[in-house]
Amino acid sequence: MGKTYQIGVIPGDGTGPEVVAEGIKVLNAVGEKAGIGFDYHTYPFGGDHYLKTGETLPASAVDELSRQDATFLGAIGHPDVKPGILEKGVLLQLRFDLDLYINLRPVKLYAGVDTPLKDKGPAEIDFDVVRENTEGLYTGTGGFFKKGTPDEVAIQDSINTRKGVERCLRYAFEHCRRFGRKKKLTLCGKTNVLTFAFDLWERAFREVGREYPDIEQDYAHVDAICMWMVKNPEWFDVIVTDNIFGDIITDLGAMIQGGMGIAAGGNINPEGTAMFEPIGGSAPKYTGQNVINPIAAIMAGQMMLKHLGEVQAANWVETAVMATITGDMDTMAAGRMGMGTRDVGDRVVARLRDI
Ligand code: IPM
Ligand code: MN
Repeated sequence: MGKTYQIGVIPGDGTGPEVVAEGIKVLNAVGEKAGIGFDYHTYPFGGDHYLKTGETLPASAVDELSRQDATFLGAIGHPDVKPGILEKGVLLQLRFDLDLYINLRPVKLYAGVDTPLKDKGPAEIDFDVVRENTEGLYTGTGGFFKKGTPDEVAIQDSINTRKGVERCLRYAFEHCRRFGRKKKLTLCGKTNVLTFAFDLWERAFREVGREYPDIEQDYAHVDAICMWMVKNPEWFDVIVTDNIFGDIITDLGAMIQGGMGIAAGGNINPEGTAMFEPIGGSAPKYTGQNVINPIAAIMAGQMMLKHLGEVQAANWVETAVMATITGDMDTMAAGRMGMGTRDVGDRVVARLRDI
């Protein structure tokens, strides 16, 4: 028996627990095959817990999670809780407190999955977005002046520190060197308008880039990136960008790779712990209906394995997912999986056993 990993689990709200259950089903199956184990430590945080107790995320839990190998998160978001409370109180708080300064989001179209892009397939849609995850417009700095009056002012600051930008860029270069197919890193910015923030990003990009002569270095404005992600997604290998641009372009990325039922992401502190999640949200109206595609959660588990250094186990999960998509499912378009949430998990496990 190899290592036993300590995994924090936050199933969260809505359909989060259903897809997390499938992710864990697959982790356990691949663990058996690979001779590794998982101890799960489950936490109740999310909308229901908040409505019952008024608690979002206690410091003691953050402390425990920081000492575990990784966290597996379902979804946070509840229709009866005012927008912002859970997002800031749980998800963003975890990102800040655990200093999960990288948000890694693969945009990969698997064979057999529908994309809305005409004439584009798996060969064209396969890149990673490295999103800065603790700064920019997300720090909550700013404020109101004369709120509620006709003279009202609202300021929302974008914080970009040399340290924060540089460590993100360095991770992106390293990631591109290790995993990039074309060894090309594109900085996504807006140097023509955001002349302070992206001046810093661009200077740091060039400076850090000198240490990576083997990586092709490319720059594009965020609006052009949106255009090219649709028109020429094959141009990209690894894209690095700030927090808000990364948030926006990865939803576009999720759509071109087949939708929210597929897209997974990792919130990573390369020197500490990490948290993996399907990026689709809690989809409250589908709760308990066994209709949400768990592939995103299963792939979040796959990313977690890769991050933990369990590369063979991660490859097995990816292979089993690919076989499930092409062999067992009618189509992966949203709402037309051809089978239920639990069946998809069962099929992935069955395919794992075939390998
Ligand atoms: C995401 C989400 C979050 C974000 C929200 C829920 C705060 O959209 O993970 O992309 O904006 O980062
Ligand atoms: Mn988002």
